[in-house]
Amino acid sequence: MAAQNLQSVPAERTAGTSETADAEGQAHFDRIIAEDSRIEPRDWMPAAYRKTLLRQVSQHAHSEIIGMQPEANWISRAPSLKRKAILMAKVQDEAGHGLYLYSAAETLGQSRDKMMDDLIAGKARYSSIFNYPARTWADMGAIGWLVDGAAICNQVPLCRASYGPYGRAMVRVCKEESFHQRQGFEILLELSNGTPEQKQMAQDAVNRWYAPALMMFGPPDDDSPNSKQSMAWNIKRFSNDELRSRFVGMMVEQVRVLGLTLPDDQVRFNEDTRKWEHGPLDWHEFQEVLAGRGPCNAQRLERRRAAHDDGAWVREAAAAYAAKQSAKQQKEYAA
Ligand SMILES: [Fe+2]
Ligand SMILES: [Fe+2]
Repeated sequence: MAAQNLQSVPAERTAGTSETADAEGQAHFDRIIAEDSRIEPRDWMPAAYRKTLLRQVSQHAHSEIIGMQPEANWISRAPSLKRKAILMAKVQDEAGHGLYLYSAAETLGQSRDKMMDDLIAGKARYSSIFNYPARTWADMGAIGWLVDGAAICNQVPLCRASYGPYGRAMVRVCKEESFHQRQGFEILLELSNGTPEQKQMAQDAVNRWYAPALMMFGPPDDDSPNSKQSMAWNIKRFSNDELRSRFVGMMVEQVRVLGLTLPDDQVRFNEDTRKWEHGPLDWHEFQEVLAGRGPCNAQRLERRRAAHDDGAWVREAAAAYAAKQSAKQQKEYAA
């Protein structure tokens, strides 16, 4: 919640005004990174560090908000009142994650309006996984288990990210992602122990979400030129391939308990490297989806735009109320 209380700080205020100030700021920044301590919004930071973080945190926020859609589609079709309540709580959590992260991004000097405009104009990226359709109820299980599972793997190390507001937002997000993963696992477990058709439906959902979930960690290390710098700045702690390998190891254990299989006969533990390996992934498909040519890209943006338009009256009412409150306060101070 800490990130929500932080005020937006314009970039100009933290930028150095002279070469000496820049050199001092850089030295202070380098010391904080070397001590593995935290950079706060009012600290001097290199322009490239600010830009990298702004891109990462805003993309993360957009992913949470767009990620509500595939599951929200199933709230009215959940098979019981209990399932409906759990799914609704999960989707609301994702909205909350978006809010913490937009607040964290605002501390880097970007307004929320600008971030939202970029998203609905199709200029901003979000996680490619949310451009795949959720076809059956079992997809609610596979998304929770695999997608939220991959998110946890990715985000637990981000709790130690060098930028304070981002790291603090991640702590709360990760607690909620654990609940999401467990609810997904439990949906799959129940289906797996149900009728043969239900078990098949669970297996089919795992088959469709497995590869996109593995690609959530980003391109292979050799094709990820920015990762090295992010690691040097203590934003990222582990490489894409390292995190992907850990995730595969986690899933191998859990899929046995589910009584299902991973759709990948090349999964194995390499005794020499001490790492989990997996079969090839379709990186061409990944790039296509990122470029806006996935199965649901257009639909996701269209719905986001419509929700933004439908919510205009709420934003106007909130702004009018805030103006009224501030006028009242000023009158009280003046009296
Ligand atoms: Fe989330
Ligand atoms: Fe989640």
